[in-house]
Amino acid sequence: MTSHIKKQLEAHKGQLTPQICHEHGLKLFDEGCFKKLKLLGKGAFGEVWMCLKVENRDYVAVKYINVDSNNKNKDLENLASFMVEKEILERIAQKNTSSIAKFLGAFYLMEGTLKNIKHVILVSESGDYSLDQLIKERDAKKKPYQPQEVLAFLSQISEGYAILQELRIYHSDTKLPNLVFSSKNAKFFLIDFGVSKLVARGSDDVSLEEYAGGGTRGWFSPEKAFYWELAKKGLDLPEDKNTFNPFKDDIWALGICLEKMLNANADTYKGNDLLERILKALKDKNSHSRFNGDQLHRLLKDNNVVSPSQGANIFQTDLEIAQDLDQKRRKEDGFQAVFRKFQDAFLPHEMLEVALEERKGLVQSFGEPSLENGIHFEGALKRLGSINI
Ligand SMILES: Nc1ncnc2c1ncn2[C@@H]1O[C@H](COP(=O)(O)OP(=O)(O)O)[C@@H](O)[C@H]1O
Ligand SMILES: [Mg+2]
Repeated sequence: MTSHIKKQLEAHKGQLTPQICHEHGLKLFDEGCFKKLKLLGKGAFGEVWMCLKVENRDYVAVKYINVDSNNKNKDLENLASFMVEKEILERIAQKNTSSIAKFLGAFYLMEGTLKNIKHVILVSESGDYSLDQLIKERDAKKKPYQPQEVLAFLSQISEGYAILQELRIYHSDTKLPNLVFSSKNAKFFLIDFGVSKLVARGSDDVSLEEYAGGGTRGWFSPEKAFYWELAKKGLDLPEDKNTFNPFKDDIWALGICLEKMLNANADTYKGNDLLERILKALKDKNSHSRFNGDQLHRLLKDNNVVSPSQGANIFQTDLEIAQDLDQKRRKEDGFQAVFRKFQDAFLPHEMLEVALEERKGLVQSFGEPSLENGIHFEGALKRLGSINI
């Protein structure tokens, strides 16, 4: 752990919820508070697991963020993103909305002393599958989203964006992987506030330079795309172009999600007048997205688009798909368990010993494995592969 990170963690120690498991003398995973059930997502930051919270038998999402890698800059970036996400989710928690992930706690894993911290941990409400996974499954099953479903989704999720605007939070990374479905509650909600920003009070038009640093290419509003294009070429923004509305930018990205759900282009889509109007307005490039969260939410309410939580469950197909996918995953896990047993039973001791010896020798010559000396380890692995047993 770098001293930088140690300082940051120490500075924020008071803010972090006390580690309940630690108080109870339990280890965080498996034996104690959370039982890992399935891997929800994985990236350079770490992993997200759906876990069973043993205390109240609730399902929760545990985001396990690395802060002890070989890359100090990445560690700091991860830590900063964790702090932002925690602070923003805590703010949203006051609002009691069902369309944004509920914040349930933040911990750091402490094993003895602060210098052993390897991860910081964020616990929130858990979904099953993200919208991009569901769309893929629906395509495979030839059960594309129907306009009514898309409107129901939109009506539900737009409440979240209205609240974000009220709290002056710019999500800045709206995209299919950050919208997840909960089969328990048959609803969608927004996750991942790692690159979000609080927008200063006052005008909703803010500086692009200041606010448009986060997000994912392909989901940018025209203003943000323009900014990134210039930044890529090392050019500065013209003074009169350095402005955008972050709340509309979020809705623009949401519009792209709708298009992908409908697997259609807004210009050619026909099927529901209201949805068609919304898509058209969202794609109006002259003045970028036309709606902010609040306007979109009101428009849907005025048109009596009922949120699924208030009416009959319209996401039946997603429920079935989530069930199928779960069964498939369980089967795969079953295979893996059998495979592991097989490996354990047949891995010859000699080979294990040779492997350990090899490793010891390499560490002596080159230090612990890292990206720079990884090449030597690769060679060793190849040699191991050719040992005759
Ligand atoms: N609360 C959650 N419920 C269900 N899936 C989740 C949840 N949080 C994360 N995931 C899954 O893990 C992936 C990565 O998590 P995310 O918080 O978006 O991290 P990142 O900042 O790396 O994008 C998501 O795209 C989603 O598939
Ligand atoms: Mg994400």
